[in-house]
Amino acid sequence: MFLPRGFTLRPGPTWNIVKVSASYALSHVLRRPIVWGRPMSLMMEPISRCNLQCPLCPIGARELTRKLGTMTLDTFKRALDNLGPQVRVLALWNQGEPTINDDLPEMVRIAHERGIYTMTSTNGMLMLRRNLIDRLIEAGLDEIIFSIDGLTPESYQIYRIGGHLEVVVEGMQTLRKRRDELKSKTPRIIMQWLPMKHNQHEIPYLRAKAKQWGADTVEIKTAQVYTQQQYDDYLPDMEALRRYEKKGQRWETKRTYQSCKRLWFSTMVDWNGNVVPCCFDKDEEFLMGNAVTDGFDSIWHGEKYQAFRRQLITKGRMEEMCRNCTEGLRSYYIPLDKLEKFAEAEIPPVPEENKPKSKDYADIFDLPTHNQHTN
Ligand SMILES: C[S@@+](CC[C@H](N)C(=O)[O-])C[C@H]1O[C@@H](n2cnc3c(N)ncnc32)[C@H](O)[C@@H]1O
Ligand code: SF4
Repeated sequence: MFLPRGFTLRPGPTWNIVKVSASYALSHVLRRPIVWGRPMSLMMEPISRCNLQCPLCPIGARELTRKLGTMTLDTFKRALDNLGPQVRVLALWNQGEPTINDDLPEMVRIAHERGIYTMTSTNGMLMLRRNLIDRLIEAGLDEIIFSIDGLTPESYQIYRIGGHLEVVVEGMQTLRKRRDELKSKTPRIIMQWLPMKHNQHEIPYLRAKAKQWGADTVEIKTAQVYTQQQYDDYLPDMEALRRYEKKGQRWETKRTYQSCKRLWFSTMVDWNGNVVPCCFDKDEEFLMGNAVTDGFDSIWHGEKYQAFRRQLITKGRMEEMCRNCTEGLRSYYIPLDKLEKFAEAEIPPVPEENKPKSKDYADIFDLPTHNQHTN
C-alpha cells in the first residue's frame, strides 16, 4: 500500500489524516472552511540567513524585509510541542542555510525520537565543519538534499554565487563514506539540480556524476523566477523544463488543480516561531500567529487562517504569493529518465565558456552517458 513518506499505519496519525482529508473535501463542497485535525507535515526554518547569494532566492538576493535570525533550541522545542504529535514529517529548511545553525543535529534528534521523518536541504558548503556529518547521521536524519546546479565549477558558480563545487562535492562524498562506515541506512542523499539556461547541456551527465559523487538519486526541480528579466535570463530553452507556460504576454504556472491542500495538511514556522501558511510567504505577509506564544489551536482555527482558506475556496489563490507555488504543479519534479529522453532529442552542445578549466573536471563531458550508468 502506498503511504506518504514518514507515515505509518498507527491509529493516531491515521485518524488525523482521515479528519484532515475529510474536512479539506467538505470545505470545497460547502464552500466554507471546515478544519478538523492538525497539520501532519511541518516546515521549520532553522535560520533565515545564508552564506551564498543565489540570485533567484529572496535571501540570496538579500531582498527579505522581515527580521532575520536563528531559531533557538528552546523555540524549536516549544513550537514542536505546541504543534502536537500529529506532525509526522518535518522539513528543516525555509529561507537561509540550515547548516549554519549548530543546533540542527539536535533538532533532528528531538524530532527523530518522536518518530518524525526528518529532511533538510543544504547548499553543502559547511558539511565538513564541526563534525556535522557524523552528528547528523547519529541524530537520525532521514533525508538530505544537496543543492548542486552545475557539474563544473564554471556552471555551478553562475547560480550558487559564493559557493565552491569542490567543497560541496567533498561534503557529499564524505557523508556517503561515513554513512557506509557507520552502517547507517540514512540519510538518503539527494542531489537536486535546477534546470537553467546555463546548465541545460549537463543533463546527459547528471546520473553518472551524482553516482560518482555519492548521491543515492538526482532530483530535478524546475526553477522559479519572479520577473520577466529573470525569466529571459535564467529559464532553460525547453518548455518541458519550465514550470511556466506562456499565455499571450503573461506566463503562468502549469497546474493540474487550483486548490491547495497545504492549508489543511501542513504549516510553516519561521526562525522566531512565527507561523505563516507555507514557505511561499517569504516575507510573512500573512502572519497567522506565533507558535511559541500562542496556542496552536487558536492559530490553526483563528480568523486569519480561516480568511485565507475562505479566499482560496471562494476566489482562488493569492495573486502574488501563490503564483510560484509548487502545489498542483504539473512540472515540479521532472523524472530523470524523462529528462534524459528530452536531452537525447534537444540538448545543445556544451558552450565554450562552460567547458571546465580545472584538470580535475577536464573529463566531465567525456563521461559515458546515462545509457551506460544506472543507479
Ligand atoms: C531557499 S533554499 C534553502 C536551503 C538551502 N540553502 C539550499 O539552497 O538548499 C530552499 C530550496 O530552494 C531551492 N532553490 C533555490 N533557488 C531556487 C529557484 N530559483 N527555484 C526553485 N528552487 C530554488 C534550493 O535548492 C533549496 O532546495
Ligand atoms: S544557498 Fe539556499 S538559501 Fe542560500 S541563497 Fe542559495 S538558495 Fe537561497
